[in-house]
Amino acid sequence: MHLGIIMDGNGRWAVERRLPRAFGHKRGASKVTEIVTACPDLGIKTLTLYAFSTENWTRTAHEVSSLMKLFRGYLQNKFLELVENNVKVVFLGDPSPIARDISSQMKRLELATKDNDGLTLNIALNYGGRDEIVRAAQKFGMDTVADKVIPKDLTTETFERYLDTKGQTNPDLIIRTAGQRRISNFLLWQIAYSELYFTNTTWPDFTIKELQLILSEFNQEERTFGGNKSKTTQIH
Ligand code: FPP
Repeated sequence: MHLGIIMDGNGRWAVERRLPRAFGHKRGASKVTEIVTACPDLGIKTLTLYAFSTENWTRTAHEVSSLMKLFRGYLQNKFLELVENNVKVVFLGDPSPIARDISSQMKRLELATKDNDGLTLNIALNYGGRDEIVRAAQKFGMDTVADKVIPKDLTTETFERYLDTKGQTNPDLIIRTAGQRRISNFLLWQIAYSELYFTNTTWPDFTIKELQLILSEFNQEERTFGGNKSKTTQIH
């Protein structure tokens, strides 16, 4: 099972408690560790987390820098734990605008975990679905220029090889926390047949128990991928 999560509501969680927004993100990072640790027992083989979007750069410089500090700390503190827990870490998105020390740690972590066969943890950092599709199209264009492919070779299957998620299954379920019912440029290509679940719980307040409930509801759904239905599929 591949689960994607749009981890929203860190800011609101903090503001409701009269705390700085950065504190909400910090709580959000602890929640990441809790959920990642629980995944294997919950039957989740791939987890994709939306950590920072291509649009998040428009937040205040202070908030962007506190988020970057958090990613830097996560990479430092969780490096060994992820390696030892058999987690394969993959970063989705364009790393080029990210500070060099962070992006080289990202590369190191990907390399150090590439042969792990436990949970695949995709961390979407400076990620946007449209940007990913455009970068994939550019890579295909480069391959045509290099005479490796011709335009007619492009099919939905071959195009997937140019995406950041190449070789992976598509998400079965996307959860968005904190009440908003939109996708916000997350995995646009990959979610064509995913179930969508929206909860009002903010990300720092999200629990393993709620995740278990959502998963058991999801497991009762029959997915047809555009084929025939033998029963009505409705989540809410
Ligand atoms: C959305 O909440 C959350 C983010 C933009 C950042 C997500 C980052 C984390 C959970 C922390 C660390 C992640 C990793 C992988 C270590 P928001 O600020 O938009 O909340 P709001 O809508 O209530 O303002």
